[in-house]
Amino acid sequence: MSQDAFRLLNPDGKEMDLPVRSGTIGPDVIDIARLYREQGVFTYDPGYVSTGSCASEITFIDGEKGVLMYRGYPVEQLAAHSSFLEVSYLLLHGNLPTASELEGFDRTIRTHTMLNEGMLNFFKGFRYDAHPMAMLSAVVGSMSAYYHDSLDASNPEHRDIFAHRILAKLPTIAAAAYKLNKGQPFIYPRNDLSYCENMLQMFFAVPAEPYEIDEVAAEALDLLFILHADHEQNCSTSTVRMAGSSGANPYSAIAAGIAALWGPAHGGANEAVLEMLEEIGDASQIGKYVKKAIDKNDPFRLMGFGHRVYKNFDPRATIIRDMCHKLLAKLGRQDTPIFDLALELEQVALKDDYFIEKNLYPNVDFYSGIIYRALGIPTSMFTVMFALGRSVGWAAHWREMIADPKGRISRPRQLYLGPEQRDYVPIEKR
Ligand code: SDX
Repeated sequence: MSQDAFRLLNPDGKEMDLPVRSGTIGPDVIDIARLYREQGVFTYDPGYVSTGSCASEITFIDGEKGVLMYRGYPVEQLAAHSSFLEVSYLLLHGNLPTASELEGFDRTIRTHTMLNEGMLNFFKGFRYDAHPMAMLSAVVGSMSAYYHDSLDASNPEHRDIFAHRILAKLPTIAAAAYKLNKGQPFIYPRNDLSYCENMLQMFFAVPAEPYEIDEVAAEALDLLFILHADHEQNCSTSTVRMAGSSGANPYSAIAAGIAALWGPAHGGANEAVLEMLEEIGDASQIGKYVKKAIDKNDPFRLMGFGHRVYKNFDPRATIIRDMCHKLLAKLGRQDTPIFDLALELEQVALKDDYFIEKNLYPNVDFYSGIIYRALGIPTSMFTVMFALGRSVGWAAHWREMIADPKGRISRPRQLYLGPEQRDYVPIEKR
């Protein structure tokens, strides 16, 4: 049962009741909207450790219990029974689709996978070794230069076509970036294939010979996209909401989210995990690197460990780790020493007092890169794969934010620590 209000007693004895709001589940929030106007003070919470930025109906996380639900459905159930496109419909529209709704959604996405042919010219300008995340954010940002026909955010149909284009075209853009890095010709999407089958053929097919879809790989990709689809108000999703709150073009807001995801503290961690495992090399070096991670004077952190919210196992990491075993066996890749090293590192870290005390567990990024590598996807593309899964979550949050009748531009304040007023000194007197 929630309290009605938090009573604030400020230094001069003046009291103020701050209303408390309760969600469906999860922690209550204290509504501080009147605080500055009535008390002349701001709250202070760098990194937003204890701050709720918005109300949302999309995803719920309980970090203590390791719970993740999309629109109320536990991610474990969706991973076991659903598909990425069905989960995408759920995130965007709030409920699981009927068979005919899913069929129509699938057909819509399949028929929006091609790019405006002019967009392919961007790839003639990038260096052959450009990082694919740089290309993804640039070309997604350019979508705002192509799609002027549907930018009325107050129009539900425009909000739909925006989401459909993001979901459908990002794999095509990602594949074009991958082909540029490989020095191979761009492969057009095929509407006769499922979402992940089509992605695999755009990545790995070559004009010189027929390409045979590996259904095991398609299923693995589909599961990884379900697990990456959304995660409440994480850094990149909050960036999309922040950029979109000014009324900016939604494609530009998604490009801002891609940029935020790229950081190694966020979605860039899956790439950093593989680089870290390669640097560790073999199990004999694990102790040395765990010590480095604990050493406050060493900037090294164990990539793929720790989480702002999960102070228990990240449920996604558990599912992906189990999937690793099955997939490597199915792909005949049991001899994957890097997976064995990851398992050993996890065991050592989880027994270490520092990691126990700090509640540092493997997160979604710890194992996902091992699967991407087993599928033949290069390390530089790992964060791109994260972005492809998360794109539907970004679109769902943008739609929720832009449809909020009480929505307003996000504009936080600060604690100012700069100099007091001082007068300009002419350069000859400095
Ligand atoms: C994702 O927010 C989301 O939902 C993100 C995500 C999503 O789906 O969108 O789940 C995806 O980004 C997963 C996280 C991927 N990042 C990494 O794996 C990078 C390694 N992890 C750390 O950088 C860190 O754990 C964060 C960024 C994930 C969390 O940072 P916080 O919440 O700011 O925690 P913190 O840095 O304050 O850490 C708390 C303590 C610190 O020690 P003290 O200052 O209290 O002494 O734990 C330590 C940290 O030094 N710590 C680590 C560590 N992570 C935290 N020490 C060693 N190795 C680590 N990995």
